[in-house]
Amino acid sequence: MIIYAHRGARGYAPENTMAAFKKALALKADGIELDVHTTKDGQLVVCHDHNIDRTSNGSGWIRDFTLSELKAFDFGKWFDEKYRGEQILSFEEFFLWYVKTPLLLNIEIKNGPVVYQGIEKELVTTIKSLAPAGFNIYDRILISSFYHPSLYKIKELDSKFKTGVLYDSRPMNVLEQVKAINADYLHPHWHYLDRETIEAAQELGIGVNCYTINTEEEFKFISEFPLTGIFSDYPDRWLRRNI
Ligand code: G3P
Ligand code: CA
Repeated sequence: MIIYAHRGARGYAPENTMAAFKKALALKADGIELDVHTTKDGQLVVCHDHNIDRTSNGSGWIRDFTLSELKAFDFGKWFDEKYRGEQILSFEEFFLWYVKTPLLLNIEIKNGPVVYQGIEKELVTTIKSLAPAGFNIYDRILISSFYHPSLYKIKELDSKFKTGVLYDSRPMNVLEQVKAINADYLHPHWHYLDRETIEAAQELGIGVNCYTINTEEEFKFISEFPLTGIFSDYPDRWLRRNI
């Protein structure tokens, strides 16, 4: 089972910062999960929320700041004083570091309720222009979103990209939705795992990655299911566990 470090290893370091991604690498997670938005000047940045209030010393919407304005805020000290000075990462900065690691990558497009027009094209173009020769984009990177039109668009731009359908409720006919947008994975909240859907997905060659598994109880629950992977704030808790 693949263990993705959720927003980096956010249990140990400020989420979606270089400190969290380096921690994920040090813990030997299989992969990293992160979230992307677009700034006022059209730059992709790595952050979970649509605003910076919770994870920085600033306040306001990402879409209302330029990248250089966002860089002035501190994204580390809210978590712990020792992380003072962590800056928001542009996706480009992250990616140039990431391609030198052996990790898998799940990029979540944070579209909706704020909709970033053109974010899919910007993401695909950035990945392709920065990936070094020999880097296997399609095997290493998986793009997900709760906003499924973004996943449809990714496949329109390049059908070789793998996509994952995120959901945090119990949608009707989720596999019909997956097939309609030619997606490759289901990404349910663990509350919404059910054997029937997982087995039907497997028959269609669709993998299942489930979020966010942090406690022993949650891990025990998901261990009953044949999953492709999980997302965890504490990836080291589940690495090399036999299930
Ligand atoms: O991709 C799994 C998980 O990250 C989705 O929820 O809110 O943590 O982005 P959230
Ligand atoms: Ca996410």
